[in-house]
Formats: sequence, structure tokens, C-alpha cells
Amino acid sequence: MNIVVVGAQWGDEGKGKVIDVLAKDADIIVRYQGGNNAGHTVVSDDEEFVFHLIPSGLLHPGKIGVIGNGVVVDPEALLEEVQRLSLAYARDPRRGIPRPGAEGQAQGLNVQQTLKLSDQAHLIFPYHKRLDVAEEKARSSSGSAVQGGGGRIGTTGRGIGPCYVDKVARCGIRVADLYDEAVFERKLRQNVDEKNRLLTAIYHESPVEFDPLRGQYRQFAKAIEPFVTNTTRFLHEAMVRKQRLLFEGAQGTLLDIDHGTYPYVTSSNATAGGACVGAGVPPTCIDRVIGVVKAYTTRVGEGPLPTEFAAELMQHIRARGNEFGATTGRPRRCGWFDAVIARHAVQVNGCDAMVVTKLDVLDEMPTIQLCTAYEINGRRLADFPSNIASLDRAKPIYESLPGWQSDTTQAEQFDDLPHAAQAYLHRIEELLGVKICLISIGSKREQAFRVGQW
Ligand code: IMP
Repeated sequence: MNIVVVGAQWGDEGKGKVIDVLAKDADIIVRYQGGNNAGHTVVSDDEEFVFHLIPSGLLHPGKIGVIGNGVVVDPEALLEEVQRLSLAYARDPRRGIPRPGAEGQAQGLNVQQTLKLSDQAHLIFPYHKRLDVAEEKARSSSGSAVQGGGGRIGTTGRGIGPCYVDKVARCGIRVADLYDEAVFERKLRQNVDEKNRLLTAIYHESPVEFDPLRGQYRQFAKAIEPFVTNTTRFLHEAMVRKQRLLFEGAQGTLLDIDHGTYPYVTSSNATAGGACVGAGVPPTCIDRVIGVVKAYTTRVGEGPLPTEFAAELMQHIRARGNEFGATTGRPRRCGWFDAVIARHAVQVNGCDAMVVTKLDVLDEMPTIQLCTAYEINGRRLADFPSNIASLDRAKPIYESLPGWQSDTTQAEQFDDLPHAAQAYLHRIEELLGVKICLISIGSKREQAFRVGQW
């Protein structure tokens, strides 16, 4: 069975842990979009791992990780991640993590078998990161981008947007280009010249230097070569062998470039459809789509968040849920569960089942609010609005449910949960029209249980 796991809110739903749980029953875990803007956290044997580019799930021995053509790859970040995870592997060889050799060289026991990088993936260069930061600085801190006021997006500064811009503008540099010296030099020269014009004339920044950059990427090319392959072909061959694929969406539906709260979004298709384009597999091979939601809502960066908490509750939930970005460390904005956006996510992804994470974070709440619709300009709206500017003005319409005010972190099955927690989850199922298949009640691997048959 081939499964896509997608975030059904604004990212950070806990997909890393879900992938880690589902990876046991998969052979290959595939990232299909985004880049190292993602931060997927997995806690194994009390040790915390944060995956940015490498698919989570590789902590299970014998699994293969694929970074598909739709991902944008910062080779420096990739090598750093391989190095970091390989140290964990050295501490516990039962883990199936790739092992680089000395000086960060990507070689060693099982690298070629464990991690595959698409030769069609686009590369992030330092000028992308510089432009990302410069563009954000230039966007006025006042005003709202959604109202045409040019406000900040609140990007991660990892060069993701500018790299996708090059991809669409057809001037990007792909992994395969690294291995044709003449082509690589020509493309790099052209890009450096163009980006330097932008950096100096528009943003009044210093230019990037061509020669050191070329040298640095030649080194990266050698170091990542053992991973590089035609991943589309690899995945097709795997499917012929009846191997099971698990697609790991990064970010979330509301950050999707087409279906999210544009322009406060990332630059890729984080939704389930992105898996086909970003990995080169046909829609007909996807058997199940699983949406992941937190029991409440969070987002990082700018943009509308209709159910955002007031200061006191924000502080409480942020502290209990450790709501700080795994990539940038930024505090996340938190709010009540918003069924309007989650329903939108269920629709555009075609979710067959949902995972609810971090239920335990609500354990102390006397009352829980569930947003079922919005009031916009005096009118009730139960669907995700196509005019995103109106989300800024949306007043959530809440349903109040009693809290359970008891510890859920030890629950091993649905029946162990307090009745009020069960009622809350059933109401979410009703509002979304989809069954819940997995509930997570803590950061550890074992703090999750499946519900029903799936
Ligand atoms: P970018 O992806 O760095 O361009 O950032 C665009 C928007 O997506 C910003 O609001 C980021 O905070 C948000 N974002 C990007 N990656 C993630 C993620 O993995 N989790 C949550 N938010 C993210």
C-alpha cells in the first residue's frame, strides 16, 4: 500500500512522528516538496532527532529514504544532516541511518542503499538565501501582503522561495548539472551575474563571488554523488517489486502555494497532489491519503490565523506544547482547532483518515472551543474563503465543549481517554467527515495509538 501523509493545517502538525510510526510498515519514505525549511521531529529512545531534508522514518533499520525531484536541496544542509544523523548511527548501529566517512564525505557502509537523491532536484545556492533575506527585509514591516501592502511573509530564510522562482523561470540548476562541468559553469555564471544585479542594484547588498562558489559546489558534488540517482525510475522499479511507499509531505495544506493562505504560504505544493509531481509517480499508485492535525492550531510567520489565542492562553499552550519552530526556533502562534480550514484540507487532499496529535497539550483546559464557521462582514461562512483578505476579518464561531482536566499521556487505546476527550475527537470527526485513525498523546514513539481498522 502506498500512503501520502500531509499536514492539514499550517505545518508543524507532528508529521515527523506520524511518519516514524507508519514507516514500520513501509519500505521507502519519500520527500516530494519543500526543502530544509521543514523540521520533522522524532523522539526515539529518549533522543530527539530533527529531520530537515532527509525523510523521517530512517531511524528504522532497513528503510530507504528518497529525496524526490520536487524538493529543493541545499547540499551543505544535506551533508550536515547526514553527518549529524550518522553520529547517532555510530552511537546505536541498529539505526538505519546513512554513514558518511571522514571529512563529511558521503561514503560508508549503507549510504547508497539508504538515501537516494533525485538528479532532477533543484539546488539551493547561497544567493537564494541572500535574496530570501533581502526580499523579506525590503517588504515593509507595516501593511499586509494580502491587502497588497507588501508586508513580510515571515519565511524561514533558507532560500526556498527564490530557488523555486528559478525553477519556474527555467534558469535553475539541478543536481544532474553538477556532473557536467561546462553546463554547470555556464548556468552558474549566468545566475551569479543576474543575482548580483539584483543584490547590488535593488537590495544594496554585496555581490556573491563566482570562483569560491564554483569550488564549493564542486566539493559538494563529490560528497553527495553516492546518493544521486534517477529516483523516478527507482520508485517505479520499487513499485514493480511491490515495495510500499510512504510519501512525507512537508509544511501543510494552508501553506500550499495554490491551496493555502496565499501569499502567506511556502513556494511548493504541500498537498497530496504534490506527491505525484514531486516524486514522478502516477496518481493511480496512491492508495491512501492521511491528513495530520494538531488538537489545536499553530502557525509560524505572518498571515491570518482566525482562532489565534489571546496572550495568556497563548503562553500556556506554547509552553505546554513546546511550540517553537524546529528549524528557526521562532515561537509559533497558537489558536483553537479550526474546522473550517481542516475541512478545506480534507477536501483538497482527499483525506481517507486523520491523525490527531498533541491531544495531551489540552489536558488542563476547563473548556475547549472548536471553530465551526466564521462570521465575515456580518455573514456566516462555513467554507474556506477564496478571498484570503477576508480571513483577516473573520470572527470565529465557536462551539464550547467541556475539557477533561486529566492526564491523557498514558492512554494506550481510545477507551482509555476521558469521555470529554473522546467527545471532542468524535466532534472533530463529524465536522471533518473523516474518521480518526491515530492519536498521539506525547512526543515519545510509544505515546500514540491506532483507532479502528485502517
Ligand atoms: P519559506 O518556506 O521559508 O519560504 O516560508 C514561507 C512560510 O512558510 C513562512 O510563513 C514559514 O514560517 C512557513 N513555513 C515554511 N516551512 C515550514 C514548516 O516546516 N513548518 C511551518 N511553517 C513553515
